[in-house]
Amino acid sequence: MDDLLKKIAEIKEMIISAINASKDENDIRAVKENLLSKKSEFSALGRYFRELSVEERIEFGQALNVAKEDIANRLSEKEKALLEALAEKKLKKERLDVTLPGYRYEDGGINPLLEVQDEILSIFVSMGYEVYEGPDIESDYYNFERMNIPFDHPAREMQDSFYLDKTTLMRSHTSPAQARMMDMKKGEPFRVVCPGKCFRRDDDDAMHSHQFMQIEGLVIDRGISLADLKGTLELFLKKLFGEKREIRLRGSYFPFTEPSVEVDISCAECGGKGCSICKNTGFIEVLGAGMVHPNVLKMGGYDPNVYSGFAFGVGLDRIAMLKYGISDIRDLYTNDHRFVKQFKKGRF
Ligand code: DAH
Repeated sequence: MDDLLKKIAEIKEMIISAINASKDENDIRAVKENLLSKKSEFSALGRYFRELSVEERIEFGQALNVAKEDIANRLSEKEKALLEALAEKKLKKERLDVTLPGYRYEDGGINPLLEVQDEILSIFVSMGYEVYEGPDIESDYYNFERMNIPFDHPAREMQDSFYLDKTTLMRSHTSPAQARMMDMKKGEPFRVVCPGKCFRRDDDDAMHSHQFMQIEGLVIDRGISLADLKGTLELFLKKLFGEKREIRLRGSYFPFTEPSVEVDISCAECGGKGCSICKNTGFIEVLGAGMVHPNVLKMGGYDPNVYSGFAFGVGLDRIAMLKYGISDIRDLYTNDHRFVKQFKKGRF
């Protein structure tokens, strides 16, 4: 019997020292699998019951139970200690120094081009216009043909630009949106403004950029006249630049309008007397406009004997530069934070 009790003690010691030596959950798992499973030496001790008398069984059974309890206690203590050590290690690794200064994110401002675009669109929306943005990539058909600029027309020369293939190009003006709008309206009268990017081969200097922005306007109805165009533009330009500005229409030429005009406003810098900004003319050109050419109406499905319309095209870069006193167009496209944040308006 003594031998048996000694054996229990030996096996228990062996198991407990394996538990004590465990460094992580893998070691613990190994102890459970190798030393405490049904096939382990410890479990095999049960086979001695058969060889013992009733009294001896009681003594042996008690010793075995005490050993089992000891082992279970040690095991759970060790598991708890390992878990705590692991949590502590993790905490140390993830330690945050809340006294460190944070990152400062500066918010920018709205690009003046978008600022001006918003302003112009809301003026026209308040006059009952809808807004439509045509695609940046346009077909030769809409960009030129539908604007009354056939294949060999000299007006193409100025705008022949960035072709993606023989019949597709980055649109060179927002005017094709006029034709797309007419197609959508199917003969019904309408008023629309179409903002967007345009692309043309050009010098890249302080006044020119290969990418720029325009807003196109188009009104089609019965009995629309040049007086409507003049009144609308006067209202629009005075809202944008101030009541004191004078408006001047000069005869001009565009293939898609007849008659065509160029529209100037009196110079804000010198009040019309003449200065370096207006090149001593007292006026600054701000947009092109005219009465929609009968060919353009016809191609759009409108009978020029019944319907007439006016159209205009405003260059936003020019307007933004005038309005904010920007001297280099490239500033509008380089996204320099120092430039853009000057136009912060707190609208976020
Ligand atoms: N599409 C012209 C351009 O880019 C601008 C323009 C002029 C648009 C007269 C019009 C217009 O709608 O009537 O130079």
